[in-house]
Amino acid sequence: MTHLFTLDQWPDLHGTVAQAEQFKNNPLVQQALGRGKTIGLLFFNPSLRTRMSTEKAAQNLGMNTLVLNINQDGWLLEFEDGTVMNNSSSEHIREAAAVISQYCDMVAIRAFAELKDRAKDQAEQVLQSFMRYGSIPVVNLESATAHPLQALADALTLREYQPAHRPKVVLSWAPHPKALPQAVANSFVRMMRHQEADFVIAHPGGYALDPIITQGIPCVKAQEKAFVDADFIYTKNWSSFDSYGEVLRHDLDWMITSEKMALTRSAKFMHCLPVRRNVVVADAVLDSPNSLVIEQANNRTYTAQAVLHKILQNG
Ligand code: CP
Repeated sequence: MTHLFTLDQWPDLHGTVAQAEQFKNNPLVQQALGRGKTIGLLFFNPSLRTRMSTEKAAQNLGMNTLVLNINQDGWLLEFEDGTVMNNSSSEHIREAAAVISQYCDMVAIRAFAELKDRAKDQAEQVLQSFMRYGSIPVVNLESATAHPLQALADALTLREYQPAHRPKVVLSWAPHPKALPQAVANSFVRMMRHQEADFVIAHPGGYALDPIITQGIPCVKAQEKAFVDADFIYTKNWSSFDSYGEVLRHDLDWMITSEKMALTRSAKFMHCLPVRRNVVVADAVLDSPNSLVIEQANNRTYTAQAVLHKILQNG
């Protein structure tokens, strides 16, 4: 059974991106493939892009979609085995995953990191439980540690704006008032391992990502130096991995500004959205012609479609 959990397990990233490019040109070409098939979209957390683009991707393939905001509209789920369920949880994941597998041909799930207990988040209990107790393919719509559909859309966007020379790509941390997960950055790093590019991660002290994920990739603490000659600036906030889930600084020194972008080789600006204006990035950068954020969001549909297409083909 083909699951999309992280990009490390996903076969043929470049083939998926090429397929997405074809779907972008002709979205309805494979309408027959998904006819009569149903995808369940389960959200433990909010979403705009992931929800709408994945639903549209499924519909482009002729699939039916069942969307459930599971924390609001479903029973509160229990994930631990052997629990005496006399508290707030009403349904165990063993039954819930098995029942959803009766109604759906695949299930896509969003379940963010709680950012309290690193080992617990890294265990990815929600997605792992659905893979264990369900009998259908599982697609990650952003879990505690990974957002592979975002990274595939980012790969398509990089491909579309590829310069003639080998590009320099910078993943830059940026400020944010709230603690955010590392999932987007983790998947971007995993995706960049498949690209022909000079790739650098820039972050302030205390914000190193999981060293297993970034092993061998240059990580620097001088943001402006990293920006010199860059072709793409991919910006994202994440909370500390070492001091797990903590926000270590509240200044705006690492915000992306026009002055910093002027150090680059007229770089394209990328961000997964949603983005906080004039905290993460200045208006002038986000609203500039070099900003690719809307195209990134647009590409979410076609890369999700390529993933669902592959899962349908694999049966
Ligand atoms: N980029 C992204 O995943 O957006 P949403 O949180 O709105 O789905």
